[in-house]
Amino acid sequence: MNDRFLRACRRQPVDKTPVWFMRQAGRYMSDYRALRERYSLLQICREPELAVAVTLQPVDVIDVDAAILFSDLLLPFTPMGLDFDFLKGEGPSIERPIRHAADVQRVRAFEPRQALGHVLTTIRMLRKELDGRVPLIGFGGAPFTMASYAIEGGPSTSYAKTKAFMYAQPAAWHALCDTFASVMSAYLRAQIEAGVQAVQVFDSWAGQLSRDDYREFAQPHSRRIFEALADTGVPTLHFGVGTTAILPDMAAAGGDVIGVDWRLPLDQAWTLVGEDRGIQGNLDPTVLLGPRERMMAAADDILRRAAGRAGHIFNLGHGVLPNTNLEQVQALARHVHANW
Ligand code: CP3
Repeated sequence: MNDRFLRACRRQPVDKTPVWFMRQAGRYMSDYRALRERYSLLQICREPELAVAVTLQPVDVIDVDAAILFSDLLLPFTPMGLDFDFLKGEGPSIERPIRHAADVQRVRAFEPRQALGHVLTTIRMLRKELDGRVPLIGFGGAPFTMASYAIEGGPSTSYAKTKAFMYAQPAAWHALCDTFASVMSAYLRAQIEAGVQAVQVFDSWAGQLSRDDYREFAQPHSRRIFEALADTGVPTLHFGVGTTAILPDMAAAGGDVIGVDWRLPLDQAWTLVGEDRGIQGNLDPTVLLGPRERMMAAADDILRRAAGRAGHIFNLGHGVLPNTNLEQVQALARHVHANW
């Protein structure tokens, strides 16, 4: 079995730098677009046969060292009483966002084996299909990022509603994040029981917070999730965007590997994260839209900065963009393996 990815998570030596890509399954792949003509994103997420097929699409054609479960961060919203849908071209839209302290009371915890049993079925099917080819990564959202979607009702640029809520209603904010932390801990544990071999906690928007606000409003809730997973022995990855100012605090919250974006050179980010952790990253996804040679040079720079130290997982600083050429992604994965 190809266990480079799991070895790097544990900071063990590897034969080549492991590589996978956030959003490695998605719109930049024609097979995915073909399936999306017949099914909605939520249909694919909820139908194990389809979710398995989409998860495997990149594994079959790109030289990646891990598969990531095809699902979405927001799936737990529905059983929590936060109905939502994906609107074409606009992203997620939550029907009745949380706007007042009293709204927090209608947010429910749920039993993942019942409400999201289809995700667990997908995981069990994937482990059989993958048959040890590459390990399977599961994932969930950190409380801050989940709460920000629940409050904004969809994507945001300023996170003004989220921040206003958290400053004005701290008790309700902490109660809401507490629920997300419990739900995510149970959901990720259920994913691990079903067979995922590593889990990534996405705190995609934590970089919107000042360091002090991160420590007060986000970190304690994220920490609870990592503590709840500690006894599973399964490696954890902790990812956010624009997190330069809070990398030491994210690392303190938990994660065997910290995922970083492209804003800091990898070696500097690793110093902030601490050498006792692994690091994942950190090519700017837009570099894949440029010339091949420039992309390779940028990848080489990252590899040089990792300098062969155990614990580096090559990835982008955020997801593959929909207008990326598949050939560029294939070439990048091959290049990382050839030039580790
Ligand atoms: O990485 C993978 O290959 C696994 C699949 C995956 C999806 N969503 C499928 C998806 C993962 C890991 C996610 C996580 C997710 N979902 C995050 C955290 C990661 C990040 O980007 O920071 C967030 C914030 C979401 C919520 C979400 N889902 C948004 C904001 C959007 C719309 C934005 C967009 O890219 O269109 C989605 C839609 C979504 N989730 C797509 C995919 C492949 C788009 C594809 C489609 O519409 O068919």
